[in-house]
Amino acid sequence: MTKKRILSGMRPTGKLHIGHYVGALENWIQLQDEYDNFHLIADYHVLTTSLNTDDIYQNSIEMMIDWLAAGLDPQKNLMFRQSQIKEHAELHLILSMLITVNRLERNPTLKDQVRDLNIEHIIYGHLGYPVLQTADILLYKGDLVPVGEDQVPHVEISREIARKFNNQYGDVFPEPEPKLSKFARLPGLDGDAKMSKSLGNTIFLSDEHDIVKAKLKKAVTDPNKIRKGDPGNPDICLIFAYHKKFNPGEIEEIGAGCRSGALGCFDCKMNCASKISSLLAPIIEKRKYYENNIPLIKDILADGELKAKKIAVATMNEVHEKMKLG
Ligand code: TRP
Repeated sequence: MTKKRILSGMRPTGKLHIGHYVGALENWIQLQDEYDNFHLIADYHVLTTSLNTDDIYQNSIEMMIDWLAAGLDPQKNLMFRQSQIKEHAELHLILSMLITVNRLERNPTLKDQVRDLNIEHIIYGHLGYPVLQTADILLYKGDLVPVGEDQVPHVEISREIARKFNNQYGDVFPEPEPKLSKFARLPGLDGDAKMSKSLGNTIFLSDEHDIVKAKLKKAVTDPNKIRKGDPGNPDICLIFAYHKKFNPGEIEEIGAGCRSGALGCFDCKMNCASKISSLLAPIIEKRKYYENNIPLIKDILADGELKAKKIAVATMNEVHEKMKLG
């Protein structure tokens, strides 16, 4: 039986944080044996919110280091840069005719970005962000898209565009489905619903234990719990949300201790920091190996780009044929 294909990607904006890990990367790693896996570095997508491209290549390598250190196996996953495969641009153009501006303006992820980044006037290419993402998925005929919760509206748009293409020109594309992890979203250190680099509320996968401790120490908890002894409400506390993910075994005890007041925030935070660091320690260790083997990373990318290109060309031949474009 042929395996179903996974297609997912991330924008190379620098080092990854635990929100990326929990929302997507961990899921990719868990799925890597069961599926045929494609993961792209969405370097064109970076341009939708930043015209400065000086660091794009370096950030792509940095992201590859995180992917590999976290456990994505290059034998089981194709990894490649979107910008190296021109077919993304061509398919994006064709697909952009199959969706209205109105539909794209209703995209809630776009609205969130406009708010978070204080964007006054939306760039044409930014509006088309989900169309480019659709080209990424459809070019490789991805069946499943393992992403964080914020990306689900984009995959919905991809499904609509795939359907529209198939109805108009004949069946080429599967309708891709999102595949969420159990913890699709991790709150930020400032209590924001989302951990995000642009909000500056992250713990990086590369953060050493003393940094994790210092970051958690400053994190906001229930404002009514000022000192040990005060009863707190774990349900509104981001540290408790982290415990749920990184320390599930102690969750009952911690919840009860917080509510009664017996557990103070400092001890609770330090316990949480240890659990996060025990997840990160092997990643930090493997990072060192890859940091000292950059040519190996370049080889993995070159290999991925060669293989991805072949598939992209074959899909575009089919598209041309169905569209009678010679
Ligand atoms: N938009 C995704 C994100 O920011 C990145 C991305 C680009 C992607 N192309 C994709 C994700 C294709 C899944 C499939 O996280």
